[in-house]
Order: sequence, then C-alpha cells, then structure tokens
Amino acid sequence: MTNLMTLIKNPYTVGRPIFKPENLFGRETILSFIQEQLTSGAKVTLLHGQRRMGMTSFMNNIAEYVRLDEFVFVRLSLEDKYNKSLDKILYDLARNITDELGISRTTINIPTQEDLKVEPQDFVNIFLLQVYQQLKRKNLVLLLDEFDMLWDNSCQEINSFVYFLISIINLQEKLFIILFVGRRESSLEFIQSLFREVGKLPHKELGLLDKSNTIKLVTEIPREATNYRYDPDVIEAIWELSGGHPYYTQLLCYNLFQQARNKDKWNVNYQDFQGVINKSLEEGEPAFVSPLEVLSTQQKLILSAVAEAQKRATNSDHIVSPLVILEMYDVKVMENLIEELITAAKHLVDLRFLEEIGEQKFRKIKVPIYKVRIELFRLWLLKQHPLERQRDLINELFPKKSSLQRIWDMAFSNE
Ligand SMILES: Nc1ncnc2c1ncn2[C@@H]1O[C@H](COP(=O)(O)OP(=O)(O)OP(=O)(O)O)[C@@H](O)[C@H]1O
Ligand SMILES: [Mg+2]
Repeated sequence: MTNLMTLIKNPYTVGRPIFKPENLFGRETILSFIQEQLTSGAKVTLLHGQRRMGMTSFMNNIAEYVRLDEFVFVRLSLEDKYNKSLDKILYDLARNITDELGISRTTINIPTQEDLKVEPQDFVNIFLLQVYQQLKRKNLVLLLDEFDMLWDNSCQEINSFVYFLISIINLQEKLFIILFVGRRESSLEFIQSLFREVGKLPHKELGLLDKSNTIKLVTEIPREATNYRYDPDVIEAIWELSGGHPYYTQLLCYNLFQQARNKDKWNVNYQDFQGVINKSLEEGEPAFVSPLEVLSTQQKLILSAVAEAQKRATNSDHIVSPLVILEMYDVKVMENLIEELITAAKHLVDLRFLEEIGEQKFRKIKVPIYKVRIELFRLWLLKQHPLERQRDLINELFPKKSSLQRIWDMAFSNE
C-alpha cells in the first residue's frame, strides 16, 4: 500500500515569490513601517535590500496585510522596462491598475498607447481621474518592484518614467508610491538625489528574519505533513547556517523535506541535516550568485579572502584580516592599497555581506577583522570561489610582491 505521506507535495518554496500570507514570515516590523508612512502622508517610501531577500514576496502580500481601509494597492514590476518607452510603461500601468482594482474595462476609458505617446499627461488627466472617482474616498498606492532597473549601471541613462513620476507625485493628492530596490549598490543615495524635489524619502531595509521567525518558517510551513518533525538540534543548525535568510532557510528545508519523503523517514535528525548541505549549495546557486552581481571584482576577492580567513582559523578568536590573507597570495599591500581595501570591505559591511568582528595590527596600524555574515553563503564561497582558484585574477588586480620581499617576509614569519 502506498504511504500517503510520500505523496505529499513539498510545502516549502524555493525561488518563486510567495503569494499566500500564511507562508510569509517575519515582516511585521517593515509592514508597520509602511502603515506609519502611509498614514502620516509620506508620498514616496523606499524599501531596499539584497537580491533574493524576499522583496517580491513581501510586495505581493502587502495588500493582504495592511490594515488601512483608505488605501488600495497596485503592483508593477519594472524588471524588463528599462528599454521601454514612457507611453508603453504608462499603458501597462493603466491596465494593471484597472485589472488589480477589479474595475471593468468597459466602465473606464484607458487612453491608447498612441494617445499616451502624444500626451503622457492623459494618464493623469484622463485615466487617473476616473480611477479616483471609482475609488471614492480611497487612495491609490503604487508598489513598484525592481525600481532600480530603470537606469543603467553608471546611473546616467534614466528611463523617463522616473521623471514622470517625480513630476506628478506631489500634485496627486490621492496617489502614493512605494519603491522596491535591491540591485544596484548606489541605489539609496542616487534615488534620494533623484527625488530631492519630492523631499527626503523615508526608507527601510528588508533584511534577514530574526531567530523566532526563522523557526516559525521552518516549523509552521509543513502544517499538513502532520508526521514530519525536526529534532531541536536540526532547527538550531538551520538557523546557524541560514542566519535568517528566508531563501536559504527555505532551500535547506525544501531539501530536508524531499530527503524525508524519498526515504520515508519523517523524523529529521542532525545526520539528515548534514546530508542536504551540499545539495543545497548546488541547487541554490542562483540565490548565491545574484546578490554578488552588484559587487566589483575586487570586492568579490575580499569576500573570498574573508571566507578563507575563517576557514584557516581554528576558532573565531583566530580569524585574521583579509589583508593578511591577500598577502599570503603575494599581494603587495602598500599603504594606499590598505586604505582602498578597507574602504571596499566597509562597503561589503554596508551591503550586509560582512560583519566586523574586531581588529588587529597590520604594519603598525589597526585594521578591521571580518566574518561572512551568513554561514551557508560562506560555505558556497569556499566551494565555488576559493581564493586558491583565483590566482590569475589576484595577479591582474593587485601589485605582486617581489621575490626578494617574499623571502624577507618568510624570514620574518619564521622568527
Ligand atoms: N518572508 C518570507 N518568508 C518565507 N519565505 C520567504 C520570505 N521572503 C522570501 N522567501 C523565500 O525567498 C524566495 C525568494 O523570494 P522573492 O522572489 O520574493 O525574492 P526577491 O527579493 O524578490 O528576489 P529577486 O532578487 O530575484 O527579485 C522565495 O521563494 C521564498 O522561498
Ligand atoms: Mg523579486
């Protein structure tokens, strides 16, 4: 007889955005932040975070979660809109608004794309006015996902939809905007400067989940698999490896569930947990690679150097600065390079890749020591980007120590 448990669908989600509120965890604080901003009249609010941190999932659930009767929400992803004309984006937005608000297309006059091309203001003067009428006393909140896809890497070529929004937002009493950004490293300051005539934008980071929400995610999602259980040390180990990253947590749990189903063994112990780490590192590749897209080659090398510093340390008190590690790879860390590397590492701290954990002496000055913030990500760096395999890149990017200097250093290190 077939065991019914083996037919159960894997309840965890890996990669696809989440649509069901009961499967979204740990976003209460950021949700209250949004409620506060809207009720206090903030016209444009900015949410930012690393890629794959759950932006789209959060955005999908805002309408369900926000308990403010006077606001309605409409989503638009700008992921593929960089090369699109203003009239095309406005036309798509008008149709999204109509459909998401459940307004029948027969009761509203949506300007054609040709009309919007001749007169983009028709979007406001013809279309939005009708929407406001239908909404009666309610306000319209646009949720714009991947907003920072509207300009190029050098922040020079900016899609005119950005300027259009800036020009209308303060004049439209019933219109509010929430921007979701995550891709570009300079997004925050750049967006603030773009929107300076609107005012300073309130902003908040969408980041890692705390421990109790991570545990809830792990234990509450398989609600229907009633026999499925984790030993307490497995739950602790998931937390330690994923660090509260929602995607990485789901990734580990998905693989654990799959393994349990394959083996028809529904009590997950620590050994089972160890059995899925490698598979998770392989299958989660996109979630490890895409946050790196915003980094320079030099910053990526520093990340790998920090991962290696942790690997070489026998305990966390013995972790050395990435500068020391780079020296081991024959990099000539001159004074100006020290400064450059520390600035780059500080940037990695700001972007939440690294955590500063102390300092040490390096050539008479004190330099910071770091660790990689998420352990699973560190394991992936060691597997896919070990410094050992990047010697050519290191040689290309950094001045090399002379052989004389190397002999000199070796003499010192033996002292
Ligand atoms: N709050 C959450 N609770 C539970 N799981 C989550 C949460 N947020 C994200 N996830 C997990 O992370 C995965 C990615 O989520 P999502 O697509 O929303 O991220 P994203 O930041 O929009 O990614 P991208 O940078 O690719 O646009 C989901 O498949 C899900 O497994
Ligand atoms: Mg997304």
